Amino acid sequence: MSREPFGIGVIGCGNISNQYLRNLTAFPDLAVLICADLDAARAKAQAAAYGVAEWGSPDDALGHPGVRLIVNLTVPAAHAEVTAAAIAAGKHVWSEKPLTLDVAGGRALLAAAQAAGVRVGCAPDTVLGAGLQSARRLIDSGAIGTPLTALTLLQGPGPQSWHPDPEFLFARGAGPLFDLGPYYLSVLAVLFGPAARVAAIGRRPQASRVIGSGPRAGTEFAVAVPTYVAALAEYAGGQAASLLFSWDSPLHRAGFVEVTGTEATLALPDPNRFDGDLRVRRAGDADWAVIPATGAAAGRGSGVIDMVRAIRVGAAHRASGDLALHVLEMMTAIERSAASGAFEPVETRFDPPAPLGPQWDPYVTED
Ligand SMILES: NC(=O)c1ccc[n+]([C@@H]2O[C@H](COP(=O)([O-])OP(=O)(O)OC[C@H]3O[C@@H](n4cnc5c(N)ncnc54)[C@H](O)[C@@H]3O)[C@@H](O)[C@H]2O)c1
Repeated sequence: MSREPFGIGVIGCGNISNQYLRNLTAFPDLAVLICADLDAARAKAQAAAYGVAEWGSPDDALGHPGVRLIVNLTVPAAHAEVTAAAIAAGKHVWSEKPLTLDVAGGRALLAAAQAAGVRVGCAPDTVLGAGLQSARRLIDSGAIGTPLTALTLLQGPGPQSWHPDPEFLFARGAGPLFDLGPYYLSVLAVLFGPAARVAAIGRRPQASRVIGSGPRAGTEFAVAVPTYVAALAEYAGGQAASLLFSWDSPLHRAGFVEVTGTEATLALPDPNRFDGDLRVRRAGDADWAVIPATGAAAGRGSGVIDMVRAIRVGAAHRASGDLALHVLEMMTAIERSAASGAFEPVETRFDPPAPLGPQWDPYVTED
């Protein structure tokens, strides 16, 4: 097992790269060697801001001899191309979500990675956070009995108010289902296993929206995808879930995930966060019992650490390409059902990731 810090190249130096670069440059197992972007000024600025020695084009990162893993933080429409180029360059890849825009493209990427002997991991890594891992440990201990059903809610006016370049969030491969669905669908996948079929209703009440912040505030842009999606999911293990993803609500209510079992209901923390308390309510209880989460809540980049440690010891990494492909297939099936009105099958499968122990810590190098 090598103790050399694992060489990382970041491609895509936009909004979310701040969270990643802050964490990746602080984790002792990693060394961020280069920041890259199509926009060289962004790459240069982020390298300077986070003390990264080199900056350049995507090709500079792909050709960097010290880089063993590319962190792909580009917009969803570029994910497949950048991940494929990294695999072709012999690098492992951590991709922001979604893995690709279509299932066939996702399958092709995972097959190419396997042939090349490199790994693909994919956001969200919030499933490795203290909140959701504590929920998993609680459910595994039998605290709610046998889990039967789940209810998730994500409602709000949409990200055009705060994101300075929000067009990609309303283009193919985004919308509330593809942008935020991975958080909700991944946590249920980790708790319930793979889904077998889904159904949905979709709506797009506003054909255009207006940017609300930044230098382009006031600019109108087209909305290409449903911004209200109400979905049903049936899991291969028999569990059922009702899920709402809406950017057509003045009321902001996000992060709502409840899992109901034979003995109690568990309210999970926001699946878009790494921390947060749990609440349990058993039949007859007058109120919720609060259970503090235990474990690391290091934030975005936790999945990269888990992947690097797994590569070093030859174990499976948890936020895997197979899990991301399954979540992607669920989202594309939900989208198809919203158009067709019929239940749609979900066929991909994944090995359920092993739980993390409460002592797992991205800031402490493991022996
Ligand atoms: N912004 C958030 O809060 C947030 C949160 C979680 C996940 N994400 C995900 O992170 C990803 C990036 O989101 P963002 O908000 O940072 O977007 P952004 O538009 O702010 O930044 C994307 C960056 O990628 C660069 N880029 C685009 N295509 C490229 C290519 N082919 N090669 C190299 N660089 C390229 C752009 O120049 C830009 O700098 C998306 O997949 C998004 O879903 C964003």
